[in-house]
Amino acid sequence: MTKQRPLSSETSHTPAEKLLAWYDRHHRVLPWRVTPDDYRQGVRPDPYRIWLSEVMLQQTTVEAVKAYFLKFTGLWPTVQALADATEDDVLRGWAGLGYYSRARNLKKCADMIAMQYDGQFPQSVDGLKQLPGIGDYTSAAIAAIAFDIPAAVVDGNVERVVSRLFAIKTVMPQAKVEIRKFTEQLTPQNRPGDFAQAMMDLGATICTPKKPACILCPLNDNCAALSEGEPELYPVKAPKKARPVRYGAAFIIVSPQGEVYLRKRADKGLLAGMSEVPNSDWIAANECATPEHIMQLTSAERAPFAAQWLPSGSITHIFTHFELRLSVYKADVTSIPPSNNGWWVAQQNLGEEALPTVMKKAIGAALPDTFK
Ligand code: ADE
Repeated sequence: MTKQRPLSSETSHTPAEKLLAWYDRHHRVLPWRVTPDDYRQGVRPDPYRIWLSEVMLQQTTVEAVKAYFLKFTGLWPTVQALADATEDDVLRGWAGLGYYSRARNLKKCADMIAMQYDGQFPQSVDGLKQLPGIGDYTSAAIAAIAFDIPAAVVDGNVERVVSRLFAIKTVMPQAKVEIRKFTEQLTPQNRPGDFAQAMMDLGATICTPKKPACILCPLNDNCAALSEGEPELYPVKAPKKARPVRYGAAFIIVSPQGEVYLRKRADKGLLAGMSEVPNSDWIAANECATPEHIMQLTSAERAPFAAQWLPSGSITHIFTHFELRLSVYKADVTSIPPSNNGWWVAQQNLGEEALPTVMKKAIGAALPDTFK
C-alpha cells in the first residue's frame, strides 16, 4: 500500500514553529532589533536598547519611534550615559512623544540601574518589574527579547492576533485575562524573544485591524476567527464613549526682540514639568453648553495679565481622556509683570525646549513660521 504524504496543513508544526519560520523570512529590520541571522552569528540584543525602544513604542508607531530612538541612542548610547544626563535634557529629547511621566520614569530607571544595579539590567521578569516605569508588558518584553526568557508578551498587536486565533468572544478589556493565558500557551521555550517580536510583526503587517491579509498569514490554518469568516470582528470591543471636550485659551507673548515667553508646568499631573506658553485652566463643557459659555472659557479675559491680545486662531489637541480646544492670542510686550516666573526664548531656539505638541500647535497658530 502506498503511504499518503500528509498535506502541509497536517504536518505537526506548532503555531510557534510556523510563526518563527515566517519571521526568519519576513521580520522587519528595526534599529533596536537583532535579526535572526545576526543572532545565529552570536550577536545579542542590548537590554538598554530593547528597554528604550519598548518604552517609546508604548507612545507611538514604529515609524515615528525610529527617529526618536536614533536621537536618544546618539546622545545617550548606554544606560550610564542616560543616568548622567539631566532630567531636563531627557524631557527635551522626549518632547513630541507625549505622556511625559514615561520620560521621567525612564530617567529614574536609568539612575537606579546606574546606582544600584552596577549598570546592568536585572535578568528576570520580577527583577525588571521592580524598576520605575516597568510594568507587566515592558518586563515581559525585555525579558523575552533581551534575555530569551519565555515570558508572555502581550501588546495591542498580540491581543488582536490571539483574540482572532482563538475567536475570543469576551469583550475587551475583560478578554485580557484569557488572551494572556492563550499567549502563555503559545509561547515556545525555543526563541521566545523572536516569537514575541514575530507576533508583533504579524499583528502590524498581516493581522491588521482592518482588512487583514489572511491569505499570507502563516497561522491561517489555526485561526478560528478566519474559519468563522469575519476576523475583523476580533478583538470584540464595547461601544465607545464620546471623548469630553475641554476649552481654554493660550497666550503667545512676544518681546521686542521676537522672543517668546515660556513657563514650566507643575511637577505633577498631565505634561508634568514640561514647558508651556501661559494658558488658562482647561474646563470641560458638555454638548449642552451655550456658545456664550464657550466664548467665556476661551476669551482673552483668561490672560495672565492685561495686554493688547490679538486673536490668532484656535487649535485642537486630542489627549487620551479628552479633546482640548484652545483659542490662541498673541501680544507684543516690552515687559512682564513680576509674578510671572517664566523665561524668554528666541523663536529659532524653541525647538530645543521641552514643549509638548499641544504647545507647539498653539505657538504655530500665532507664529506660523516657528515649527516649519
Ligand atoms: N511594538 C512594541 N514593541 C515592538 C517590537 N519590539 N518590535 C516591533 N513592534 C513593537
